[in-house]
Amino acid sequence: MRQWLVLGLLAIASGLIHWLCSGGAQTMAATTSATKLDASIRRLRTGDLVIRVVDSQQQPVAGATVTLEQTAHDFDFGTALSTQMFRPNVAAHEQAQYLQIAKQWFNASVHEDALKWYSTEPEQGQVSYADADRILAWSEANGLKMRGHTLFWAVEKWNQPWVRALSPQELRQAVERRTTEICHRYRGKISEYDVLNELLHGDFYQQRLGEGIVDQIFQWCRDADPTARLYVNDYDVLNGKLLDAYVHQIRSLLDRGVPVGGIGVQAHVREPMTAAQIQHCLDTLAQFRLPIKITELGVVAATEAEQARILKDLYTVAFAHPAVTGILMWGFWAGANWEPAAAIFKHNFEPTLAARTYQDLVFNQWWTKVNGKTNSSGVVAAQAFFGRYQVTVRAGNHSTIRTVSLTPQSPMPQVVTITLPF
Ligand code: XIL
Repeated sequence: MRQWLVLGLLAIASGLIHWLCSGGAQTMAATTSATKLDASIRRLRTGDLVIRVVDSQQQPVAGATVTLEQTAHDFDFGTALSTQMFRPNVAAHEQAQYLQIAKQWFNASVHEDALKWYSTEPEQGQVSYADADRILAWSEANGLKMRGHTLFWAVEKWNQPWVRALSPQELRQAVERRTTEICHRYRGKISEYDVLNELLHGDFYQQRLGEGIVDQIFQWCRDADPTARLYVNDYDVLNGKLLDAYVHQIRSLLDRGVPVGGIGVQAHVREPMTAAQIQHCLDTLAQFRLPIKITELGVVAATEAEQARILKDLYTVAFAHPAVTGILMWGFWAGANWEPAAAIFKHNFEPTLAARTYQDLVFNQWWTKVNGKTNSSGVVAAQAFFGRYQVTVRAGNHSTIRTVSLTPQSPMPQVVTITLPF
């Protein structure tokens, strides 16, 4: 009975915290779009975490010190990983710095090139997943969740000569083999794929094998790994140029029953871009009620300040958008980047202003660190970003450390009871 009362009060208290922080108290304040974005970030990306400290008789312990330290985000903040940086012949000091940044700054990854067909089978029949596997193993060991990029690239020039030389019948067989092999091989390890990259910009496979090959590839992949989420992935979408075409394409794929499970939005930004444009693109794509990912973010701009401004808008608008589940940069270091000017770390690994901006958003503004003392109910409550936490409770000279995950699927509030041994 008493316990229910405590929990009830906790729920009311944390509801109040949430209301206060998520905009309830802001109705009088300025409703600049920055304020609105911040409010939706709080509403979408945080939950109520309640730490309840009790003694061995289950009585609340007041005055205990509780520290909540976030150790990871639930949302995917990722990067592409460059093949060359995982090869043995790379300069050791550069590799060490590259890997250090990759694991400190990101929690998701994608092969920049290593999984592409031209990388896994440059010559017909000589298939090797060594590079892809090495990058995957490193990602797994360091807590970066991998996406699969890409089963096929629809643009003809990105298909290696031997593939282009196949007869339709041979090509169909090779395509089926590759799809089944990869989706099978990485089952349970890679949970989503770009299936046919840049379908708005090329039709190599349809030209050779007919329109139905698109449906067929999605289906082969789905058969080999029913759990994987299958994406389309394209560019000139954020800037609006091909947004309507993308909508049209996705709609017709879905109408045909193609199991498209996610929408990839590349973000190779080379022209000025506004927050409103980004918002419009995401709102438009959200009509499909599918997860959206910013899959390849890189900003080239006239000045460092402009680069940082666009990057900040991209991260903020995307993180504030309910359909978006992750943002991946297309590399981060100028020494291993297809567009060095887009990298947020210079050749000497000095961070640019854009790097500092990213760091401030992801590991400061959108990051929870709480230090409090339990109240008379033994409770410290916090509105916390979804992710993993290390919770430390200190009472007298005793201390307990616990790892806690808070996710959008967690019961709200999520009450974690920590029982002290006395
Ligand atoms: C690029 C890589 O970054 C380069 O290393 C490679 O030479 C060519 O491909 N859109 C995509 C990515 O979907 O796969 C491309 O990656 C960049 C554009």
